[in-house]
Amino acid sequence: MKSHVDFLAMKEAGEKITMLTAYDYPSAKLAEAAGVDLLLVGDSVGMVMLGYASTVEVTIDDMVHHAKAARRGATDTFIVVDMPFMSYHISLETSLTHALRLFQTTGAQALKVEGASTEVCQLITRLTSAGIPVVAHLGLTPQAVNVLGGFKVQGKTEAGAKQLIEEAKKVEKSGAILCVLEGIPEPLARFVADHLKIPTIGIGASQACDGQVLVYHDLLQYGSARLPKFVKTYADLNETVLQALKQYVKEVKTGQFPALKHTYSSQEQQILRWED
Ligand code: KIV
Ligand code: NA
Repeated sequence: MKSHVDFLAMKEAGEKITMLTAYDYPSAKLAEAAGVDLLLVGDSVGMVMLGYASTVEVTIDDMVHHAKAARRGATDTFIVVDMPFMSYHISLETSLTHALRLFQTTGAQALKVEGASTEVCQLITRLTSAGIPVVAHLGLTPQAVNVLGGFKVQGKTEAGAKQLIEEAKKVEKSGAILCVLEGIPEPLARFVADHLKIPTIGIGASQACDGQVLVYHDLLQYGSARLPKFVKTYADLNETVLQALKQYVKEVKTGQFPALKHTYSSQEQQILRWED
């Protein structure tokens, strides 16, 4: 299994880092088989798997449930688990307790937190010194969507760009092992990637980042409806799945399925018993 030491070496060697979200056994298994460098059990699970309106509704129980399944699917891949909304903002003590549960019960290699407030940076340092590696997440931080006023590109103004650069310095200094950059312009992403020692992982943050992350269901067009500009789709599972399911319904109705080859012979019938 690769570790963050390997990710650092990859940045230094100019080798791009691939990250993908995964929320369950089959998605994690396929991502591992595809050679993805690291997986994120993102709180985007709330929207793409559970049908919530935003990540604000995601609970620690949701994260534990899905992270455990992803772990079973990808036993040999570095897994990052998101700390969900407000689970790290009440007090340092409760944040540490929640982090302990998320890290210990899921078998993850790191936890991810959004933002770079004094409290979040303090938490990054405390977790790191306790042996829990932390991934930072800056720019468009979805848990703050109601404060940001919507899903908007961040760091577009000079003041906004300066703030993001300061935040990036702070999370690195606090001990973060990686920094996810979401929804920021290319020049800002390039500046941050060039100036940080730790790898930057971009989503809607251009080619300039040291790696990329996408949401599994967006990349595959599986259940997702409207996709943001930064997503590239590599398959259309919505269409594939819908056609397959329609065909199944049709074939059962018309008696085409099950056919003879799906049917047991008389010899196999001998083992059947009618139990009262
Ligand atoms: O929850 C998530 O999927 C994320 C990525 C988009 C970075 O945080
Ligand atoms: Na997230």
